[in-house]
Amino acid sequence: MYHLKHITSICGFIFLFMHVIVTHGELTNDLALGFTRLPFNSSYYINHKPYNLPLEERYSFINEVHKLWVFSTDEPLSRGSPTLPRSELFINGYKYSTGVWQFEAHVFVPHGTTGVSVMQVFGSDPPHATTFMLRVYDGNLYYYRKSIIFHNIYNKWFRLNVIHHVEGNNVKVYINGVLRFKGNGRGGTTHYFKCGVYAQDRASFYMESRLKNIKIFKKCN
Ligand SMILES: *[C@@H]1O[C@H](CO)[C@@H](O)[C@H](O)[C@H]1NC(C)=O
Repeated sequence: MYHLKHITSICGFIFLFMHVIVTHGELTNDLALGFTRLPFNSSYYINHKPYNLPLEERYSFINEVHKLWVFSTDEPLSRGSPTLPRSELFINGYKYSTGVWQFEAHVFVPHGTTGVSVMQVFGSDPPHATTFMLRVYDGNLYYYRKSIIFHNIYNKWFRLNVIHHVEGNNVKVYINGVLRFKGNGRGGTTHYFKCGVYAQDRASFYMESRLKNIKIFKKCN
């Protein structure tokens, strides 16, 4: 009996310990509830980068960290494209038109990078092209250029979760496990996630973002 009780209390302690870690350290676990995590590796994305440069001049993947950078004077992703320069992961392995999809990553933006989109949900009704853009202006995270989502993100890793409900036509953004934005979608029939750096208005000369632990989830039906 002593042994059993002893073991039970050790298990109880371990359970309590893990519970504390789960509730205070990994809020992501809650956000993943009801979702299925899908496989993700280099088979699920392609790089968008200045068309005239080799990939390694604008992208590296070292120690599980994707580092993407671009200069405001760089060429666009294809010759003749009117779009601004970018170095992005285009997650073309998961194009979707229905359901609830979630993007998760740890993101780092170095001091000085501004006027840039670091994550987007592509696809919308015209005249727009995107349902959501997470931008950085002067060290703050923005919903497009419209509203601040989170302050003071330079030079520190934060966990980003973006949940797009297609039929509900809405987007939710969590920073470090806390809901910081909820807004309407913009319609659209084909969507996918992109992340990295894509120059917007008032872009800095040098733009960089880093991402690790990228995870894609889809809500179970
Ligand atoms: C990526 O994951 C898929 C599914 O698990 C697997 O079939 C494929 O071989 C993997 N590709 C690479 C490059 O690791």
